[in-house]
Amino acid sequence: MCGIVGYVGSQRAVPVLINGLLSLEYRGYDSAGLAVLNNKNIDVFKNQGRVKNLTDNFDLDSVASKVGIAHTRWATHGKPSDLNAHPHLDNSKTFAVVHNGIIENYDKVKKFLIANGYELYSQTDTEVIPNLVHYYYNKLTNDVEFRQAQMLTYSTRYSSVDDVLLALRCATGDLTGSYAIELLASFSPDQVYIAKKDSPMVVGSGEGENFIASDIPAILQHTKNFYFIEDGELGIVKPDGVTFFNGSLEKINKELKSIEWDAEASEKNGFDDYMLKEIFEQPRAIRETIGTSIVDNAIALPELDGVDFKKFNMIYIVACGTAMHAGLATKSIFENLAHIPTIVDMASEFRYRNPLIDDKTLCVFISQSGETADTIAALKLAKEQGATTISVVNVIGSSITRVSDYVLYTHAGPEIAVASTKAFTCQVTTLSILAMEIASKRIGSSIDSKIKELCKELSHIPDKVKEVLDNADEMKSLAKELYKSKDVYFTGRGFDAYVATEGALKLKEISYIHADSYPSGEFKHGPIALIEKDVPVIGIATNEDINAKTVSNLLELLTRGANVTLVTNQKIENPEIQHTVKIPECSPLFASILAIVPLQLLSYYVAKEKGLDVDKPRNLAKSVTVE
Ligand code: AGP
Ligand code: GLU
Repeated sequence: MCGIVGYVGSQRAVPVLINGLLSLEYRGYDSAGLAVLNNKNIDVFKNQGRVKNLTDNFDLDSVASKVGIAHTRWATHGKPSDLNAHPHLDNSKTFAVVHNGIIENYDKVKKFLIANGYELYSQTDTEVIPNLVHYYYNKLTNDVEFRQAQMLTYSTRYSSVDDVLLALRCATGDLTGSYAIELLASFSPDQVYIAKKDSPMVVGSGEGENFIASDIPAILQHTKNFYFIEDGELGIVKPDGVTFFNGSLEKINKELKSIEWDAEASEKNGFDDYMLKEIFEQPRAIRETIGTSIVDNAIALPELDGVDFKKFNMIYIVACGTAMHAGLATKSIFENLAHIPTIVDMASEFRYRNPLIDDKTLCVFISQSGETADTIAALKLAKEQGATTISVVNVIGSSITRVSDYVLYTHAGPEIAVASTKAFTCQVTTLSILAMEIASKRIGSSIDSKIKELCKELSHIPDKVKEVLDNADEMKSLAKELYKSKDVYFTGRGFDAYVATEGALKLKEISYIHADSYPSGEFKHGPIALIEKDVPVIGIATNEDINAKTVSNLLELLTRGANVTLVTNQKIENPEIQHTVKIPECSPLFASILAIVPLQLLSYYVAKEKGLDVDKPRNLAKSVTVE
């Protein structure tokens, strides 16, 4: 999931930049590059492939510059290639930019630039940034009226302003999407310009040198003192100090914070465990997964341009474990929106079931690792039977991506913890977008307004996940009550029943507590015999059409002694229910993304209360590459 590093100071920049990129490799990437100031020129070194390729392909030892920017790319626009790798320059080679994130309106900006005489050579969205900065820098320094207007727009009328900073601010004012930008100007020999919105960036403060990176670990070896730049802010980083500005270009003072992490802690960005870090990464991971697949509230999946969705009479969704649960959580979206029968099957069963599939079957395979043996075998079987195969995968270039006809990548970034969390919510996100695409292609314009409304809903989900995470302490205290339990049951109806299934898997795989899930209407057909005093039951109710049924089932369990926790986005006041966990409202189609987060947190905190190794639970592997 890409990374940036920047340096300005008294050392050679290249070793700082390269080591910084190497420490960001865990985030996953497909290309790498750097740019340094060399007198009045900008020298660029970049290639598709590993950071190591840079030192193999270029004589970086001879690069003496003390100012530079660097990047690891996770391609969103334009395939991984040397040309598309960052940094990108404007046509005049005056400005160089590295960028993490997605410029959602890049097509519009690209057309504007071309209309104003610029040429864009790469397929990336990023390349519009240096050229747009050049456009505004040129106007600011040649058009007095325009300059005066900008000076009035920003709070710069009473103070001198750095023209590159003002040009960068004008440019970001035209951009929609997410960005962590580092910019070099060939005529500004000792400074790096920065701007941030919705992509990560930190600034490290040293003695006579300063650093920029996507996260703390990349530069922690150089300093323990950091500034935290916020969304909408900009900065100028020089050897003797960093100046920050708000969106109005008013100077702002920032507290310098000292980070006391050891090396291992720094890999987890300050979290105690990868699992907790990955749970808290979900807002950004989901936002990056949505990325460019939703543009102007419409679905855009060019990866699937070759698929004739009208020819299919059946969809199979095939995966294992949590990935299969993501399929279960979205099955109804395919059926209700695209009106196509959808079966969800576990790969280990599918591959031996002689499934009835042919060239009218669409098979969707889901895998975080892209290396799960059962899923690969099921994929090969589906292809042999003539099905069209689409895979939803998190790891670029993994085995499943090389076998599948089509691939949709989740952009969760590397998931280190064995228990899958951010991959699940990103898989549900991608599958929901795929279901909307299939519905659009099969039903046509009559569903456009519904799809537009759902696209808007989905784009708000990352912020709603953040709201749920802000209440994480609620689950920490519930965990203290439940961690000694022998059995825990999860339940719900419809989508919520599948969230319950995933919640039960999370708890059992990291806390080793027996946990099970049943659709709430099923308890009275047998499992209710298991309920006795204080047995914890976690109920999920997010669909107002059926919540009353779920609540009445929960009360049946409560009257038999269960200790009930209800996770809901509705106003359900029932004094008998011991705990109610409120989550934000949203379309029932996407509620599973929000409802699973408290259950992920509960499992994590229960396992911590038991003193267990949360990231590496016993008997489990992150990727099951055997049958
Ligand atoms: C989930 O927490 C587990 N790690 C496991 O069920 C996992 O989801 C399953 O093995 C599938 O892995 P994959 O997504 O890499 O194919
Ligand atoms: N969207 C940009 C690209 O595709 C940047 C991706 C990233 O964050 O690495 O090049």
